[in-house]
Amino acid sequence: SIGRESQSNRNMKTAILIWLTLQNSIHTLLIRYSRAREVEDMFVSTVAVWLTEVIKCIICLFLVAQEETPRRFLSSLRAQIIEQPYDTLKVCIPAMIYIVQNNLFYVAASHLDAATFMITSQLKIFTAAIFTVIILRRSLNQTQWFALGVLFIGVSLVQLQGTSSTAKIAGESPLVGFIAVVVACCLSGFAGIYFEKILKGSAPVSLWMRNVQMAVFAIPSSFLAIYVSDSETVTTKGLLYGFDSIVWLTVLWYGIGGLSVAVCIKYADNIAKNFATSVAIVLSTIGSMFLFDFIPSLTFIFGASLVIFSIFLYSSHQSMVSALNRLRGDV
Ligand code: C5P
Repeated sequence: SIGRESQSNRNMKTAILIWLTLQNSIHTLLIRYSRAREVEDMFVSTVAVWLTEVIKCIICLFLVAQEETPRRFLSSLRAQIIEQPYDTLKVCIPAMIYIVQNNLFYVAASHLDAATFMITSQLKIFTAAIFTVIILRRSLNQTQWFALGVLFIGVSLVQLQGTSSTAKIAGESPLVGFIAVVVACCLSGFAGIYFEKILKGSAPVSLWMRNVQMAVFAIPSSFLAIYVSDSETVTTKGLLYGFDSIVWLTVLWYGIGGLSVAVCIKYADNIAKNFATSVAIVLSTIGSMFLFDFIPSLTFIFGASLVIFSIFLYSSHQSMVSALNRLRGDV
């Protein structure tokens, strides 16, 4: 039965990686579309971040309710959240960091052109790997580091081609954007690995319950962010200023994306997640070929090939290790 279980785990892992790839591709197209539109009332991004947290919390509460009988639902929420303050407090760190990160990504996106923004945000590939080594004490060999480097170069080439440079808009400060995205990537790597460590640690708390615990900190702190940076706009124009169906869809999709990341961290890991999102970038560029009549250049084809190659390079080592382990197990 152990064999069957690991087989179903492996299927789950493949399924979530494919789903995350598709999810991310649509996310990229959606954000690009909502940004490319010319609207007068631009929505307040801190409000969008807060609403994403609220939506994720509602979805997670619903999923926790599915795991429990209705009668036990409230008591298990109380038992896991209020009566174990120390355990709840553990997720406070990744929860807060994710809020800062999500806000920083909006800052970065409004100060950098799309290509620079997306290329620098691929630094996540390295920060996740570095924190995997430091915090989870897993080691990566030379081939795997090399594969990560190839992945980074591949995705960068794809993006160089995918997004033509846009004219600088008044008020944009590339340095601010660059610092924001670099800091956000460090935070992303750290928070992701920290969450992975908590989730795969000894306490038997479900993934959805962990996310409800995170929401306990994430919802108030993201609300605080609205108050600190946009209270004037929000009080004069209203909380939901500029929220049309596209913005709502983006917020909802962002939330679904966050929860998909959580599932991916559970069944695979943070590094696999970054591979999935890199493939998503290739796919969304191909998608925009059909949608926006974009013609691929040699740079794009070369970059996309590097991305695919890096995946085989990285996982060939993994499958070699697991084959060796199996052999050792058999002996
Ligand atoms: O790509 P990256 O790992 O930086 O994306 C993290 C995103 O996933 C953040 O928006 C974060 O809020 C979300 N997330 C989540 N629940 C988790 C882990 C991550 O909503 N358990």
